[in-house]
Amino acid sequence: MAEEQSVEQFKGQPRLPEFAAPRRYDLFLKPDLSACAFAGAAEIALDVLAATRFLVLNAADLAVDHASISFKNQESSQELRPLEIVEVQEDEILVLGFDRVLPLGKGILRIRFTGTLNDQMKGFYRSVYEYNGEKRNMAVTQFEAADARRCFPCWDEPAFKATFRITLKVPSELVALSNMPVIEEKIDGLLKTLSFQESPIMSTYLVAVVVGLFDFVEAFTPDGIRVRVYCQVGKSNQGKFALDVAVKTLDLYKGYFAVPYPLPKLDMVAIPDFASGAMENYGLVTYREKSLLYDERYSSASSKQWVAITVTHELAHQWFGNLVTMEWWTHLWLNEGFASWMSYLAADSLFPEWNIWTQFLDDTTSGLVLDALSESHPIEVEINHANEIDQIFDSISYDKGASIIRMLQSYLGAECFQRSLASYIKRYAYSNAKTEDLWAVLEEESGEPVKDLMSSWTKQKGYPVIYIRRKEHGLEFEQSQFLTDGSSGNGQWIVPLTLCCGSYNTQKKFLLKTKFEELDIMDLIGSANGKANLLEKSSQGNSERFWIKFNIDQTGFYRVKYDDELAAGLRYAIEANKLYATDRIGILEDSYALCVACKQTLSSLLSLLDAYREEFDYTVLGHIVTISCKIANIVTDATPELADEIKVFLIILLQISAEKLGWDPKEGESHLAVMLRGDLLTALVRIGHDMTRNEAVRRFYIFLNDRNTSLLPPDTRKAAYIAVMQTVSASNRSGYESLLRIYRETDESEERVRVLSSLSSCPDPDIVLEVLNFLLSSEVRNQDAVYGLRVSREGRETAWRWLKENWDYISKTWESASLIAAFIGCIVSPFSSEEKAEEMEEFFASRTKPSFARTLKQSLERVRINARWVQSIRNDHSLEEAVKELAHKNGI
Ligand code: BES
Ligand code: ZN
Repeated sequence: MAEEQSVEQFKGQPRLPEFAAPRRYDLFLKPDLSACAFAGAAEIALDVLAATRFLVLNAADLAVDHASISFKNQESSQELRPLEIVEVQEDEILVLGFDRVLPLGKGILRIRFTGTLNDQMKGFYRSVYEYNGEKRNMAVTQFEAADARRCFPCWDEPAFKATFRITLKVPSELVALSNMPVIEEKIDGLLKTLSFQESPIMSTYLVAVVVGLFDFVEAFTPDGIRVRVYCQVGKSNQGKFALDVAVKTLDLYKGYFAVPYPLPKLDMVAIPDFASGAMENYGLVTYREKSLLYDERYSSASSKQWVAITVTHELAHQWFGNLVTMEWWTHLWLNEGFASWMSYLAADSLFPEWNIWTQFLDDTTSGLVLDALSESHPIEVEINHANEIDQIFDSISYDKGASIIRMLQSYLGAECFQRSLASYIKRYAYSNAKTEDLWAVLEEESGEPVKDLMSSWTKQKGYPVIYIRRKEHGLEFEQSQFLTDGSSGNGQWIVPLTLCCGSYNTQKKFLLKTKFEELDIMDLIGSANGKANLLEKSSQGNSERFWIKFNIDQTGFYRVKYDDELAAGLRYAIEANKLYATDRIGILEDSYALCVACKQTLSSLLSLLDAYREEFDYTVLGHIVTISCKIANIVTDATPELADEIKVFLIILLQISAEKLGWDPKEGESHLAVMLRGDLLTALVRIGHDMTRNEAVRRFYIFLNDRNTSLLPPDTRKAAYIAVMQTVSASNRSGYESLLRIYRETDESEERVRVLSSLSSCPDPDIVLEVLNFLLSSEVRNQDAVYGLRVSREGRETAWRWLKENWDYISKTWESASLIAAFIGCIVSPFSSEEKAEEMEEFFASRTKPSFARTLKQSLERVRINARWVQSIRNDHSLEEAVKELAHKNGI
């Protein structure tokens, strides 16, 4: 058998062959920061597990020194040199063919190689920072998903776990970090050699190295684990908040998982050029600056929350992902969905006043929105090539993943769920697991049919909308796949349904397993309402109206459509303030989604919104704000003649709370109030409320003359920046130039991002074009360009033309860091006509690549959904009357 092997059979395979597996890597790396190059040597102790003449491992973008390759079997100690060395570029593999079948058992493979410190924010790359006014390079690794192979030849798949002994040779004055602590340091003139302690067994994508100049702050957990946050020199103060969160979180997770943090130290580092938000490398977590640094004076409340969520997310991975690792990328959601869910669990415990589980509904909403596209994908998705992995780091793996975990936890109960997770972590520690392994543990602990229940959510894409109709003695349910394009898919789910009648004290939960079902609820109603009859009660329409709310607390990943009568009951419950904030959000979000899918009219959505006039809860208002902006946007395309009046109504809706909150922070006010203030003002500016716009501009000019003014703190600054850009035109550029000056002068990454995300709100297409070109200039880091792509309606044609004209450069620069999806999503999706969708489809026909194919299809689907929605709004004959009534009810 082994004699018949040939190089050809290893080509075009999704996974590496399993006849040899690495046990330990001794890895030496010597980066040259000024030449942007590195040299390396790997000694890989491996087990030959099956007869083979070949060793097949991954390598990409490396110059492998062929003469250096040797393999020595431990027993015979005979050194073999490969006869055949083939680097297959498309598959990123290195195939070593020997002249004989390798003896089973242990051996050592030696390889030397060199490479470039690239500019693509993946593999072993360089990031640029300033020190004493001079530009300097640092060397950083980013290996997830499949880029360790760009730094050293390795078995670059999560299931090939091994230990790592890393040695770095670097300039003596620099800080050099890796996953484990340094055990030996030898200084040799200008260079030093650092040897790091051997790691526990781990996957290659979690290996990390950082070399540069840093300051740090340090603290210890109660167990004596040393935690450090490394920042640019002079900025270590900004690491204190993250440090504090990290120390508390390690302790919390130790309790939750009943397993201590597995490594002797944890370092967290802010990297100036970073493709994603953060990366959970074992013991050396790397972050984009704005995801780690927080400054009491210069950062907004939403940044603070983002830092906390990012840190708690990455630390959850130290258990979920690093200690227990997914067997293959198909199970990526086990990493990302769980870390996302855990991050809220931790944030809720550290910052109970943030109502973070209510805010979690933002994530659930994103998951529901993406998963309602025909071009969505199942949570468990087949991966056939490394270049398909990046695009599954999406809202399905993260938000849907986290949401179905929340759904399951709420079905099984928090205690049983925690017990099961702890036992899962213990069972699979230092090993790999698949989705079904987790279900098996949960099933054992709970006695519930977890595998069947959950497979219906992870193996098929989409989710149901449950239609609920009142029948004489109860209710009738029908589940049907919810798709925003209005079609009905044929998915079917096991849905953990919950409902309450007239009060949260009267609840029921059960599994809906079929397409149709009926439920007698007379007993429930009896307990909720004395001997009252549902029919009578609900038709009375008096002060104590009867209501039923499904999906209590919105812990389920599905939507609900009520018949008219049940919907009227809920409207009463909203107005009479009988419902939790989460449920008020759910009703509104479901209704909005049904409207986009043309299953409900815009007039009825507006009329539902009217029930929220007295809404006081910040989290609910947050959803009203986003939905209002989307409505304002679509009606400008659909019924421009009604747009102004619709906006008047939306403004009434938002203005009451905006006035209550005002522009100025109040002593002792809540975190949520501060965040909402910024969002509300930004929305009023975007929708076009003159008073807010004028005040925003007034405050901006005061701020411009006095950067320390208390009139424009970071939380409200974005509203002002957008308002200023709305005043800018080609003949009146001063606001734009002032913002560019702020951008150039600041060294805060949050501020830079804030400016970038405001610039393209300008209504003048010529300025929009200038802004877009600015994004491509050397003044904007590649990681930040994507923030500038949210272009005004008036600028969207220009942006599309610009994308086409610069496509070659843009795809070359951003494709490899997977940021290209943002370019496509932001610029393609806002359109709302079938013709545009066709034009775009045609442009991309010859330009699509696997790394963004799905994003592109999703964006085009969105354009078609918008087009259909526009038509349906035009056909909504009651709209005009409804709008007039709402806008003038107690209008302004
Ligand atoms: N493992 C990811 C980082 C990552 C993303 C690597 C995409 C490779 C490709 C990390 O744990 C993560 O999820 N980061 C998030 C932040 C988090 C708070 C949701 C990110 O980068 O957005
Ligand atoms: Zn993650």
